[in-house]
Amino acid sequence: MISQKQKKILAFPYSPYDALICDGAVRSGKTSIEVVAFIDWAMREFSSQRFGICGKTVGSATENMVIPYISRSYAKKRYTLRWRRSQKILEVRRGPRVNYFEVFGGRDESSFALIQGRTLAGVLLDEVVLMPESFVNQALARCSVEGARIWFSCNPGNPNHWFKREWIDKREERNALYLHFEMTDNPSLSDKTLARYQSMYSGVFYDRYIRGLWVVAEGLVYDFFNDSMIVDEIPWQALQRGKWFLSVDYGTVNPTAAGLWCLWKGTAYMTGEYYYDSRAEDENGHGKNPRRTDEEHYAELEKLAGDRRIERVIVDPSAASFKETIQRHGRFPVWDADNRVLDGIRLTAALLKSGRILIHRSCKGLIREMGQYVWDTDAKEDAVIKEFDHSEDQLRYFCATIMEREVRAVGI
Ligand SMILES: Nc1ncnc2c1ncn2[C@@H]1O[C@H](COP(=O)(O)OP(=O)(O)O)[C@@H](O)[C@H]1O
Ligand SMILES: [Mg+2]
Repeated sequence: MISQKQKKILAFPYSPYDALICDGAVRSGKTSIEVVAFIDWAMREFSSQRFGICGKTVGSATENMVIPYISRSYAKKRYTLRWRRSQKILEVRRGPRVNYFEVFGGRDESSFALIQGRTLAGVLLDEVVLMPESFVNQALARCSVEGARIWFSCNPGNPNHWFKREWIDKREERNALYLHFEMTDNPSLSDKTLARYQSMYSGVFYDRYIRGLWVVAEGLVYDFFNDSMIVDEIPWQALQRGKWFLSVDYGTVNPTAAGLWCLWKGTAYMTGEYYYDSRAEDENGHGKNPRRTDEEHYAELEKLAGDRRIERVIVDPSAASFKETIQRHGRFPVWDADNRVLDGIRLTAALLKSGRILIHRSCKGLIREMGQYVWDTDAKEDAVIKEFDHSEDQLRYFCATIMEREVRAVGI
C-alpha cells in the first residue's frame, strides 16, 4: 500500500516541476519511494545516461538507498540490476535500455572531485540538509542533460539553514514541487515503531525529527535530563566485567573535565569525575585556584583511574600537549575524540533518553552543567554556547567515539 502523499512523489515526473523537495519527519516514507520513483522515471525517459544518487556519505547512501532498492522484489522483477560495488555504480537494464546510477557522498571529499567530471541526467539528494552547499551546487551544475530533474529529501534542521532559505522558501521561483511528510504518511509504520522513535528524541530533535518542523534550537540542550538518568549505585557485574575508559576535555584557562566510564552490555556508567576550574573560588572561599600543569592534570587522571585497566583515554583532538603528556607516561592508549558537535549531541541525547548512559551522583560537575548547557539562539546555525560545556564535552566525546560503535552494533 502506498499513501496519498507518496503517490505525489510517483506523480512528480509527470508534473511541470523541475525539482521535487520532500521534507518532514524521520521514517515517514520519503527516501524509499523517492528511490523507486527516481529510477522508474530515469528508465522511462532516458537510456545510456548517468544519474547521481547522493547521501551524506557514500556508505550511508549505499546502505539507505541502493541496498534496500536492489533487494526489492518490485525492482528485481522489473529490471536487471547490477551493483558494481567497487565503482559504486548501479547499472539498471530493461530490454535495450540501460542507465547508470552512481553513488556519491556529500560529505566525502573524494565524491566532490568525482562528481565534477560527470554529466548527469538527474540527481537524487537524500539527507540534503547534512551536505555542504558547495557539493549540492556542484551536483546540480552537472545536470546538463535535456529533461534532467532534481530530487531532494531531508529531515528539517535550523530554519536559517541554506537549504531552507535557498530551496524551500524559494520553491516557486525555482519551480520545485514541495511535499511535507509526517510519520502517518508511511503506511507501514507500526504503533510500536512509532512509539520507539518518539521516545528516542526530545526538545529540538523531537520537533524536527518527529513533528517534522524547521525550528531553532533553544534552551537547554538536554532539557529532558532528570533524576532517572542519575544512579547511586553501579551494578557490580559492570564494575567487575565492564570495560573502562577515560574521556577528557582539556583546558588551561578554561576548566579541565574528565569522566571515568564503565561500559558493560551496551550501557555506559560515568562512575567518577575530575573537574578542575582554576577560575573558581577555592574550597575555603579564597581567591582563585592555581593553574595546573599538564603533569598535574595527568596525575589526577591516574588517580581517577586507580588500578583499573583503561582501554582508552579519549582526548579532545586539539589538546596536543596534554595528549603528549599522557603518551609519555605510557600507561594509557590515547584516542582523538570525534569532535563533530551536532552529530555528537544528537547521539548523546538519544543515548541518555534510552537509558544507555547513566551518571553516578558523585559526578557533580557534569550534573551541574546539565542545567547550564544551552543552545545559542542567536547563532545562524545550530550551535551551543561555549560555556559550562566542559564535562558536557567529555560526555559527548565518549558517546561519539566509543558508544557510536556500540550503537551501530546493537542499535539504539
Ligand atoms: N508504502 C510503504 N509500504 C511499505 N513500507 C514502506 C512504505 N513506505 C515506507 N516504507 C518503509 O518504511 C521505512 C521508512 O521509510 P523511509 O522511506 O526510509 O522514510 P524516511 O526517508 O522518511 O525516513 C522503510 O523501511 C521503508 O521501506
Ligand atoms: Mg530518509
